[in-house]
Amino acid sequence: MPATVIVGAQWGDEGKGKIVDLLARDSDLVCRYNGGPNAGHTIVADGETYKLKHIPSGILQGKECVIGAGCVVDPPVLIEELDGLASRGIETGLVRLSGNAHLVMPWHLAIDRASERRLGKLAIGTTKRGIGPCYADKAMRLGIRVQDILDPKILRQKIEVALTEKNLWLERVYGERPIELEGLVEQYEGYATRLRPMIADTSLLVDGALREGRRILFDGAHGTLLDLDHGTYPFVTSSPTVAAGAGVGIGIGPSRIDSVIGVAKSYVTRVGQGPFPSEIEGPDQERLRELGGEYGTVTGRERRCGWLDLVALRYAVRVNGIDRLALTKLDVLSHFSALPVCVRYRTRDRSETHDFPAHQSDFHAAKPVYEVLEGWNEPLDGCSSVAGLPDAARAYVEFVESELDVEVTLVGTGAERSSVLTRA
Ligand code: GDP
Ligand code: IMO
Ligand code: MG
Repeated sequence: MPATVIVGAQWGDEGKGKIVDLLARDSDLVCRYNGGPNAGHTIVADGETYKLKHIPSGILQGKECVIGAGCVVDPPVLIEELDGLASRGIETGLVRLSGNAHLVMPWHLAIDRASERRLGKLAIGTTKRGIGPCYADKAMRLGIRVQDILDPKILRQKIEVALTEKNLWLERVYGERPIELEGLVEQYEGYATRLRPMIADTSLLVDGALREGRRILFDGAHGTLLDLDHGTYPFVTSSPTVAAGAGVGIGIGPSRIDSVIGVAKSYVTRVGQGPFPSEIEGPDQERLRELGGEYGTVTGRERRCGWLDLVALRYAVRVNGIDRLALTKLDVLSHFSALPVCVRYRTRDRSETHDFPAHQSDFHAAKPVYEVLEGWNEPLDGCSSVAGLPDAARAYVEFVESELDVEVTLVGTGAERSSVLTRA
């Protein structure tokens, strides 16, 4: 498919990085369309582990990579990431950065931290990377964009205007120390020197690539249930995470997208606060976390673990238009003899539904109704295709397909790049 969106179908960390890396082999261009350094995508290639925050997961395959207008970029973090990859022999000269992407500035980090602290028990559990405050300033039209750092006069003026207001907030609302203007402009001019060669009209670039029939992957960060409009608000991130965000975040029309691949874990994890109906109560939660290595890539926090939730996944199929699924980490379930799968929610009025509740209070109150599938109790290392999975493991995959009416075309059986099964 010439233009394919890869989208997280749960609450993030589904293993998108690994799937994008795999599919990038047969692609020409890989484009990130949303989010910033709140994302953490892990790729394990030939025993080497790479953790990407800003840079699309096609970089390890040597593909041209675009960071689109819908992204937010923290320059020192991006530069560190570029240097880290270069020091490991990865070519980074093909990274292109939209001049319309917004910059995460030091006050965004300070406000994110202060706001979470002030919310106390009501905190969202953000990654504290300044994401919410940065997107809020974008909407307020107070943001500083990548292109602003190319002009020292504009940069100084924008920093001065923003900082005057932000320091009032920091001091008066949050009781924090103000941020010094001194040296800040020079610091960002330094980043400009480094980033200048990467800055491009990425909408034009992607349009041109589509016209030439080049194969493009859109690398979605986070996950459907973290989407600002369609996720479990307010426990969401501040960007569009759904597949339609690819057009918006890159600057191409929706008619240019050919297909959408959803990535889902074979169970569910969530980092941060918010309702989670299939969260496991009891020792299996800890067991799953240990077996799956479920600790945040960005913050190292424990990921909350739950059984596969097909109600939420059906919703993800709907709001993204998912036409194929990649089911990752099936190997982690090899250690359980019985596997509950949430097939319906029991609602407040004690009725049952297959559909994701539209009202937040209904979702908060939803109780999972499980169907318990048989475990397979054997490792999946030796399998070379989905057809070659142990019977119970194949039945698990087929159950997901039949409940959702979507084909599972890829199955993850390990963290290594090579540990993915196809249908053949
Ligand atoms: P992303 O944010 O969606 O790219 O996912 P993360 O990289 O944050 O988290 C997924 C974790 O699972 C990473 O540590 C991956 O190396 C690992 N992983 C991905 N696919 C598989 C799989 O099929 N099996 C196992 N055991 N680990 C996997
Ligand atoms: P990847 O791309 C998992 C969660 C945070 C928090 C909420 C808001 O690796 O799948 P933010 O810092 O974005 O304002 O935090 O969103 N969150 C993620 N959880 N994976 C991610 O990205 C996430 N990006 C944001 O934990 O609950
Ligand atoms: Mg992640």
